[in-house]
Amino acid sequence: SGERVENETNKGLRVSDKGFLNTAVIRSEITYIDGDAGVLRYRGYPIEQLALHSSHLETAHLLIYGSLPTESQSQLFEKEVSHHGVMHSDAEQFFRSFRYDAHPMAILTSAFAYLGSYYAEANPSLQGQTLYSKGDQSSLAVMDRQIYRLIGKATTLAAMAYRVRQGRDFVTPPTGLSYTGSFLYQMDHLGQENYIPNPVLEKALDVLFLIHADHELNASATTVLQTGSSLVDPYSAIAAGCASLYGPLHGGANEAVIRMLISIGKPENVPAFIEAVKKREKVLSGFGHRVYKTSDPRSFIVRKMADEVFKVTGKDELLETAMALHEAAMGDEYFVKRKLAPNVDFCSGLIYRAMGFPLDFFPVLFAVPRVVGWLAHWRQMMLQDGGVKIWRPRQIYVGPTKRDYVPVDERV
Ligand code: ACO
Repeated sequence: SGERVENETNKGLRVSDKGFLNTAVIRSEITYIDGDAGVLRYRGYPIEQLALHSSHLETAHLLIYGSLPTESQSQLFEKEVSHHGVMHSDAEQFFRSFRYDAHPMAILTSAFAYLGSYYAEANPSLQGQTLYSKGDQSSLAVMDRQIYRLIGKATTLAAMAYRVRQGRDFVTPPTGLSYTGSFLYQMDHLGQENYIPNPVLEKALDVLFLIHADHELNASATTVLQTGSSLVDPYSAIAAGCASLYGPLHGGANEAVIRMLISIGKPENVPAFIEAVKKREKVLSGFGHRVYKTSDPRSFIVRKMADEVFKVTGKDELLETAMALHEAAMGDEYFVKRKLAPNVDFCSGLIYRAMGFPLDFFPVLFAVPRVVGWLAHWRQMMLQDGGVKIWRPRQIYVGPTKRDYVPVDERV
């Protein structure tokens, strides 16, 4: 859909494209999606191959720098990410200032913005605006450090957001554990003494992180680029992306799926729920996608991971309701006609629930890995030939034409 408009109040050609259904705003080498064929590739590599053979951090290197790392590049990247994961103890005071029941996504969004206040190189009035250039090694070194920091600190900030609500002390990121192992350790979300992350769950979380790492120009990546186009520091741009991801139509969908399943309750209530969706009284969360009009390829990987995780944790009691809902929707003309299939969020919430994470932490488990994709897009834009052009869309003005001010005693 789209509309070309040229009239008295909208001079010059304007293209109206509500929701950006047909507007390409950048040339990108990062992620390829074929929504009709259900294909997703990072830098040319099929998501299925990466999920099977790679790790989240190796894939992060691929997404951000364009190539799978050599062994020494991989070691360096992991070392830097781990090194920059540590948060200064000053941050404790900041975290303690939140209400006990604050949503962890609100805390995480604020925490990314907090980083922007912490590093001098992020502040244009202190250091001058950081302009990155392919030919300027020192600016690239600043950019690399910002990338390591944001990936390393994403898990630390998320774990702090988790623990502060429970009134628990913060844990310094350990050395010698994988990215997800360290994250699970810092959260100790099961509250066990001498907690050692279960390797199956650690691996499952790593695969889930990898498949969530990027998804082309979704709402949050677009927000990061829109914000970054003013040349603000990357911490602030990532905070903006995180805020966008918070919404129930985007990163909040995995949480919404579980709330929906809880509200449905038993499988026998599924037909009534489906009827309510068809009457537009309810939304079938975890179904539908702006780009995928067949299946979301990530949903198959998630279903496989669910089997692995349930072997360790036991099956989630909502699984049967989820299966019944899936079956009912896939066999119903209403959903078939609109090409509505399960997206990645339909099953991921069930895995997180089985792993013992609280519901409102689910979007955080989406945001942490998505930092990688946001950074890949941000870096690509900062280093693009010809420099950055600020993103300033136009509108179709449909308000009043010129009229004169009316004094208050003459208004009717
Ligand atoms: N339940 C019921 N009907 C739906 C759903 C749904 N989940 N999704 C779309 N539809 C219907 C729409 O009402 C519309 O019907 P109509 O043509 O009769 O008016 C038709 O299908 C087309 O849908 P659009 O809203 O035009 O699709 P759009 O691309 O704008 O929205 C979105 C995509 C936001 C993901 C939508 O499918 C949705 O709200 N899904 C539920 C939330 C969700 O799962 N979000 C996660 C997305 S994936 C991610 O962020 C990782």
